[in-house]
Amino acid sequence: MNFTVAGTGSALPKKVITNDDLSKIVDTDDEWIKKRTGISSRHILSDETITDIAFMAADAAIADSKIDVADLDLIIVSTVSSDYLTPSLACIIQGHIGATCPAFDISAACTGFIYALDIAKNYFQSGNAKNILIVSADAMSRIVDWTHRSTCVLFGDGAGAVVLSKGSDLLAIKLTSESNLDIISIPHVTGNSPFSELKKDLSYIKMDGRETYKFAFAAICKNTNDVAQLAGIDVNDIDYFITHQANIRIIEAAQQRMNVPIEKFLNNIDSAGNTSSATIPILLDQENKKGTFKPGDILVLNSFGAGLTTGAAIIRWSKTTN
Ligand SMILES: CC(C)(COP(=O)(O)OP(=O)(O)OC[C@H]1O[C@@H](n2cnc3c(N)ncnc32)[C@H](O)[C@@H]1OP(=O)(O)O)[C@@H](O)C(=O)NCCC(=O)NCCS
Repeated sequence: MNFTVAGTGSALPKKVITNDDLSKIVDTDDEWIKKRTGISSRHILSDETITDIAFMAADAAIADSKIDVADLDLIIVSTVSSDYLTPSLACIIQGHIGATCPAFDISAACTGFIYALDIAKNYFQSGNAKNILIVSADAMSRIVDWTHRSTCVLFGDGAGAVVLSKGSDLLAIKLTSESNLDIISIPHVTGNSPFSELKKDLSYIKMDGRETYKFAFAAICKNTNDVAQLAGIDVNDIDYFITHQANIRIIEAAQQRMNVPIEKFLNNIDSAGNTSSATIPILLDQENKKGTFKPGDILVLNSFGAGLTTGAAIIRWSKTTN
């Protein structure tokens, strides 16, 4: 016994920033960004906060699930960029939706949603939960260096959410962590201690793009095979691949290596970019709302990010479109 997906939700900031917009602030152009990443535009916070966007995603997932908030047993939020260090975004969402259950945030960078699914699985398996809300929300626009063309073009802001209920649709899940500060890191805010004698790094994302690319490609291929094996299915039995939207070239390279039809890979990178841990639940919700999935479909969710962390899960879709 683990869980089934009862509802999905997502929200994106209203402001859309195109590649041409970016070419006015850094030395780049639409052709380079599209060709090297697959991104045309992304949504960026302007007069909203990431808390506002997370509220919208949570509200939508709860509405889609038709579950009463009083029946939620836990709220897990994955984020690296919420509006407050404390209270957690999960506690803030708890107040917004009027729930009374425990709530906490986790940090596993872009893999946060898969880590949250694994935590949820354990709550269901131990009999400690019947319904869990997961929200993944990230405001990467707060932590990219807007003068650095190799990183600022890659990311967007947004939030995705799911309500999970007791069920048996998680067929396999796998997480990995491998400590590495050199490939991707975001230094924390440094404060203004008059006693600190250390050099203060600015709180911007630092990434070795090429190393990240290699790590991501290897992780997607290996983790897909591993979770398929754990679930006792063939990779060809997977109906849809919902893969972290970091670079379309990473996704296409993995698709070719696994020799799977490209139509099985669902993407929104063109219009959303990389929204860190929000990426997978946003894409899941967009496809759910489009009616892409039918009951019985097998989905693999695949992500990777700073840590270095990776995670993959195979779920069976049981939900009928509302
Ligand atoms: C970042 C990334 C798009 C860069 O693409 P790339 O093909 O590796 O490009 P390189 O970094 O080798 O740069 C090639 C050239 O383009 C330039 N360039 C970098 N960003 C540019 C931009 N936005 N516009 C124009 N030129 C750019 C570089 O300066 C370099 O110029 P040079 O050859 O004169 O030195 C790619 O490495 C990538 O997607 N990596 C993975 C990132 C990722 O997954 N991050 C999320 C982790 S969760």
